[in-house]
Amino acid sequence: MESLLVPSVAGGFAAQSGSEPVQEVAGQAVVVAPESPADEAAREVLLDRAMGPGRKRKSSEKLRRGRLPADGLAFSAMDGDGRLVGTVRLWNVRAGHNGPNALLLGPLAVEPALKGAGIGVALMRHAIAEARRRGHGAILLVGDPGYYERFGFSAERSDELAMPGPYEKHRLLALELIDGALAGARGVVRASGRRIEVQALRRAA
Ligand SMILES: CC(C)(COP(=O)(O)OP(=O)(O)OC[C@H]1O[C@@H](n2cnc3c(N)ncnc32)[C@H](O)[C@@H]1OP(=O)(O)O)[C@@H](O)C(=O)NCCC(=O)NCCS
Repeated sequence: MESLLVPSVAGGFAAQSGSEPVQEVAGQAVVVAPESPADEAAREVLLDRAMGPGRKRKSSEKLRRGRLPADGLAFSAMDGDGRLVGTVRLWNVRAGHNGPNALLLGPLAVEPALKGAGIGVALMRHAIAEARRRGHGAILLVGDPGYYERFGFSAERSDELAMPGPYEKHRLLALELIDGALAGARGVVRASGRRIEVQALRRAA
């Protein structure tokens, strides 16, 4: 699935034929598309610029390291010139000890010069819709409640869960895509995604 974002007359979201959300960003069309291997180098640069050098020390990184993102759930936002201006990925996890399958969202990052133009919201809406379409039950993330509440995330369903490393408890948030998907989930969130093959890691080193 691909979501085309094109200029709207009034700015902000508007319906394009086909009913995908559309938006003008800095006067040009921005497309949210499945991440491609060709995006990898630009994505690393964008993450460094948007999140700084400490990004790899986050507890979420422990659940991502050496793993592949969940199938079909890594997205890039590209501007009209084909430049990467945003990224988001989701990862397979188990929500607690013997807990249900869930997704961990992150990192979400937007080109700093284009902050506040709606790219983050577009990436989030697209990622959540696609996770729902693929039948996933819940999404977890560590982030600012003030940003993620607008998508339905709250600490209500993640209260008994913990990250495998330092994090601020009030920032561990959850969104159920299927009612009750996180009922009774408790304990430390664990990685459950496919591992990156060792040969690929050696080639990347
Ligand atoms: C957070 C981030 C992804 C948001 O993307 P964006 O494209 O700038 O945001 P959008 O334009 O889609 O949304 C803007 C809205 O979010 C709000 N917002 C942005 N960051 C926020 C935050 N940390 N907390 C609360 N609200 C926030 C803005 O105030 C604005 O609110 P409004 O719609 O009521 O005016 C982006 O700023 C970014 O890359 N930040 C650095 C990396 C980062 O912190 N990633 C998230 C990890 S938790």
